[in-house]
Amino acid sequence: MAERPLDRAMEPYYERRSAEYDDWYLGSGLFAERDRLGWDEDVRALVEAVSSLPAARTVDVACGTGFLTRHLRGSVVGVDASAGMLAGSRARHAHPLVRADAFALPFGDATFDRVFTGHFYGHLIPEQRGRFLVESRRVAPELVVVDAKIHPDVRPEQMQERVLNDGSSHRVFKRYFTAEQLADEFGGARVLFDGRWFVVVSSPR
Ligand SMILES: C[S@@+](CC[C@H](N)C(=O)[O-])C[C@H]1O[C@@H](n2cnc3c(N)ncnc32)[C@H](O)[C@@H]1O
Repeated sequence: MAERPLDRAMEPYYERRSAEYDDWYLGSGLFAERDRLGWDEDVRALVEAVSSLPAARTVDVACGTGFLTRHLRGSVVGVDASAGMLAGSRARHAHPLVRADAFALPFGDATFDRVFTGHFYGHLIPEQRGRFLVESRRVAPELVVVDAKIHPDVRPEQMQERVLNDGSSHRVFKRYFTAEQLADEFGGARVLFDGRWFVVVSSPR
């Protein structure tokens, strides 16, 4: 059988990674030695792009430690499947947090103006993408997606071997995009940010 992530299959990995997750953004811990030209500048520019989104009723799906959530304006709710990630979020901002599955959001139709999701969509296999889109569209008209920018030497779709501080190793499915490719995934979304490491697109219904 092909090695593919199933719904919730990544939970143990993210739970285990939660305490060290921000090392990826901050270039600390295992990421201190990574050669990531322009990374810090691009993180700052990404934060600026997120901060510039108009205030709205927003649900941040798969919000992780709230690194981006805290910069969203308006009435914001964070959702994640991992208790450890949510604990990181709780330490960072005062927005309500809900432990739930991104594919079965515990909200009524059109509860929000916007679904925001960072570095989650690019981990989904095709069948999950469709389900995530249906669920996003159900709870909000707008979908804003932050994901990883492709580089010339990077395969657009790959299974990655990821090692954590405790030495454990995990297989993770990951995609990389140009801004145009990510926009095309949603039938021609608007590109809000096209950086060296990150892309952000907004797709109205
Ligand atoms: C790569 S992290 C991204 C965190 C944050 N959005 C960011 O941009 O830094 C992926 C997040 O997705 C969450 N996640 C994975 N599967 C999920 C699911 N089925 N439902 C809700 N959250 C999920 C993980 O717990 C993790 O916090």
